[in-house]
Amino acid sequence: MLSSSLLMIICFYGATVQNVDGWGAVGHSLVASLAQSQLTAEASQWVKSLVPWYLSGNLTAVATWADSILYPDTNPFDHPNWQWSRQLHYLNTPSWVCSYDPSRDCINDICIEGALRNYSKRVIDANFDDIQHKEALMFLVHYAGDVHQPLHVGFQTDLGGNSIKGYFMNQTFQTNLHSLWDSGLISIRLSRDYGSNITSYYEHIYSLMLEQGSTSNNEDFIQWIQESLKHVCQQIYLDESNMIMNASVNFTLGNIYYERNIGIIEQRLAQGGRRLGTLLNRLAADRLTISSRCDKLCSNMNKLITMLICILARTLMS
Ligand code: ADE
Ligand code: ZN
Ligand code: ZN
Repeated sequence: MLSSSLLMIICFYGATVQNVDGWGAVGHSLVASLAQSQLTAEASQWVKSLVPWYLSGNLTAVATWADSILYPDTNPFDHPNWQWSRQLHYLNTPSWVCSYDPSRDCINDICIEGALRNYSKRVIDANFDDIQHKEALMFLVHYAGDVHQPLHVGFQTDLGGNSIKGYFMNQTFQTNLHSLWDSGLISIRLSRDYGSNITSYYEHIYSLMLEQGSTSNNEDFIQWIQESLKHVCQQIYLDESNMIMNASVNFTLGNIYYERNIGIIEQRLAQGGRRLGTLLNRLAADRLTISSRCDKLCSNMNKLITMLICILARTLMS
């Protein structure tokens, strides 16, 4: 199990890491900040109690922890021990199969849907300790973000777009389709329209979230997955000439692709933030119910023990 000092170091690196396997740091931070803005008083207090003390209750600062633990440059001592969590960041269907089948795509719950379900339980399960609750929260915040990045629900054959390579916006270096959706498109938007000021960009996504109203299916993980897969099947693979991109030809994408898709990304960030907030609010409420049930049980147990001691004492004295 992770010592708490190591956990702190990792969290610090996690807060600053740039090159990650999910939404990039910007996308994950936005989702976590939006979620935190939606919390009830009790959820807010609970979340603050689980975030490492030196981060002042800031959920955003732990949003990339789940990525940072995987890499030697962000977790130099311990990254091999976390490789089991790598497959929890995504799920894949067979090529161009546009519906999610848990028995085929999430064997033994080893996928992002299984992770969302399991960590939602663990984070409030009284059988787990404080460090385990902290880890569960950090995984949950991250995976709720990842699942809204459409290519984290991708096709197995091209690893969610990772093996589809090419060039974007006349840049000289090669990138890949997955990376464009994690961070490439967001970076252009942020620098072009928000002077690279993440606070102004946050305000824009926040207003989108309010405009969306409370979208239905707030806690239906399968629905979130189906929505991502729909974008993958209908939109993401179309290049600027409406041809389907694949791993055997390098793509060249620019403004047309950007303009067509940046709106989808922003809708997904806003949905992810709202839904994560709703989920944490529900979990905080459930946690109180569980602990008051435990308190009642404990007080009944105490009464029973006192009664037994009294009976025993009386028997001994008679
Ligand atoms: N590795 C393999 N498939 C992936 C996906 N869909 N998303 C992120 N990483 C992956
Ligand atoms: Zn991730
Ligand atoms: Zn990714």
